[in-house]
Amino acid sequence: MAAEKNAVILYGGSFNPPHSGHISLAEAAYKQIKPDFFYFVPNFHSPFKEMQPASFNDRSKMLHLAAGEKFMSQPGVRISSWEEDQRKIVYTWKTIRHFRKIHPNSKIYFLMGSDCLRSFNDWQRSRDILKNASLLVGIRPGFNIIGGEAPFVPLKGLFPESASSGIRTNIILNRKTSGICLAVREYIRKRGLYFSQETNMLRKELSPRRYRHCVNVARCAVNLAHICAVPEYQAAIAGLLHDCARELDVEVLKAMRISGPILGRYRKDVVKYAPKLLHASAGAMIARERFGIKDKMILQAIHLHATGMPDMNTLSKIIYMSDYLSAERNFAGLDEIRQLAEKDFDAAFAAIVEAKAKYREERKFWAHPLSIQLWKQVCSAKEN
Ligand SMILES: [Fe+2]
Ligand SMILES: [Fe+2]
Repeated sequence: MAAEKNAVILYGGSFNPPHSGHISLAEAAYKQIKPDFFYFVPNFHSPFKEMQPASFNDRSKMLHLAAGEKFMSQPGVRISSWEEDQRKIVYTWKTIRHFRKIHPNSKIYFLMGSDCLRSFNDWQRSRDILKNASLLVGIRPGFNIIGGEAPFVPLKGLFPESASSGIRTNIILNRKTSGICLAVREYIRKRGLYFSQETNMLRKELSPRRYRHCVNVARCAVNLAHICAVPEYQAAIAGLLHDCARELDVEVLKAMRISGPILGRYRKDVVKYAPKLLHASAGAMIARERFGIKDKMILQAIHLHATGMPDMNTLSKIIYMSDYLSAERNFAGLDEIRQLAEKDFDAAFAAIVEAKAKYREERKFWAHPLSIQLWKQVCSAKEN
């Protein structure tokens, strides 16, 4: 195909991290349009809003590694810091206007996957975007044109969807992940990005058995998070860290200056009857102080994982349940609750609360008042 005269391609995104889906789209667009300029435009990321922010610098370096020297050294290929330089989230129409000023006589293409096309008409000033640019769209498998989409130029070929969020979760869980190249993987490891540094720290501090349990809880939590539309990273990190204090000696736990909802006025009884329960509150404290977790939802889920409490939020329920359903556990009735959790989250939660209450009763174990309150709440919900 002949090169278009004065064509410019803009490719915006988080690139957090950049994966093969991004690069195959970029390569196909460059090959088809043969532009004078191709700009990757990484979004601005607020360092305060994100759990594990990767800086612009890191994302640019990873983009360079993912795209490879060959692609990056082609004429006109650039990584633009324009959105980052604004120090705030920038809407696409504004970015396109900026590049329109730089290239007043060029045909500007805005590159995207067809998954974004459906919502395009809801984007801020979508008509302004179409006035200044043409949409260049990589079609995802299964995408059908239903009409009503904005006009677009299709790229040749099909472009399977891959998600950076799933890749980040795999990195948090130290799981093999497809979709990122070896060089990016190595960069992430060296820089300890996406919680990989903290995961390694935990692996070294816990016994292999306990670490495996934490990973299993995190995996189970990620699955439940999908069902409940809770962010994967919250489930993964809370699951991974929930037992970070489980192997501390009871005397060490007693000596720690810990507080939180399951202690408070119950502290005396906890210390007297079930001092091991202190590991949940201690875990939340360690997660905050040593692992740098500021997210209150994650800290609360760690806090409550052993006792539960009435009116828990969904993330706390997920961790409470995952601790019970963890893959290495194997006892009568567990598989039924695992299957139930896939179909009916609330029913599975109630079943676990009930199973734990019965277990305590049968063995005449001391029950934390918050566990008793939770059990009562579940019973009264059943009756109503
Ligand atoms: Fe625990
Ligand atoms: Fe646990």
